[in-house]
Amino acid sequence: VVDLAAGLSDAVPAGTFVETVTDVQHYTADLFRFRLTRPASFRFRSGEFVMIGLMVGEKPIFRAYSIASPSWDEELEFFSIKVPNGPLTQHLQKIKPGDVVLMKKKPTGTLVNDALVPGKRLYMFSTGTGVAPFASLIRDPETYEKFEDVILTQTCRQAADLAYAQDVVAAAKADPLIGELASERLRLFTSTTREPHPYQGRITTLIEDGTLFKALDVPPLDPATDRAMICGSMAMIQDTKTLLEKNGLTEGANNRPAEFVIERAFVG
Ligand code: A2P
Repeated sequence: VVDLAAGLSDAVPAGTFVETVTDVQHYTADLFRFRLTRPASFRFRSGEFVMIGLMVGEKPIFRAYSIASPSWDEELEFFSIKVPNGPLTQHLQKIKPGDVVLMKKKPTGTLVNDALVPGKRLYMFSTGTGVAPFASLIRDPETYEKFEDVILTQTCRQAADLAYAQDVVAAAKADPLIGELASERLRLFTSTTREPHPYQGRITTLIEDGTLFKALDVPPLDPATDRAMICGSMAMIQDTKTLLEKNGLTEGANNRPAEFVIERAFVG
């Protein structure tokens, strides 16, 4: 179905890079990560997203993907769900090193350090593939320049779904550039909702009943010290946002930095 070699140059829409797949790793039946070559002219801020696509027959199909690699990396990484009949992901899940993928030239997004006012502690709350922008931010030195305590949370249905976040955190701590900072300042908190795990329950439940703060040995949410970024389903974002607001944090944006920012996890 995806014939990328034939007639590509005619069909590729304007404003689109054609990049080569360098690596693919399948985590579960539903989740995989892939890496692409990075065009020399492509700049982005850690935490932003970009449109990724494939030619399906004559037609390009694009979906928004958070860039999971940091802005200094010479390649680009993405973390994706596989939707059986998903217009893009049913094809994208079959890519192999050497294949080509389309990428629109303009990155954007709200989960960036610039959208938060300075603070002591940064929470990154994620469910499922919502962890992707945070995989970028936890590998960016700017995150550690701005916050002395960086807490990434991921909640998934099953324990196997947490493997990518666990790998990325381990890699950050071993990285020659940010390893020392990440080892000192970064913590990963994981929970599952449909399978046994040391911590079980939705992140909203674990915030409300105090389990999260007890596990991390930190005080409850406080607008004087705490900042947050949220990325997950619409419902998860809404419920987490309500909790943050109840604790006195206000929502920010690129042009109006404040105490937390939100973004929907893409692709379905
Ligand atoms: P649950 O299993 O209780 O629905 P999904 O795979 O459906 O995107 O969900 C990913 C994770 O997000 C699951 O652990 C799910 O928990 C959790 N989740 C779903 N809805 C919410 C919500 N409104 N608030 C917090 N977590 C949620």
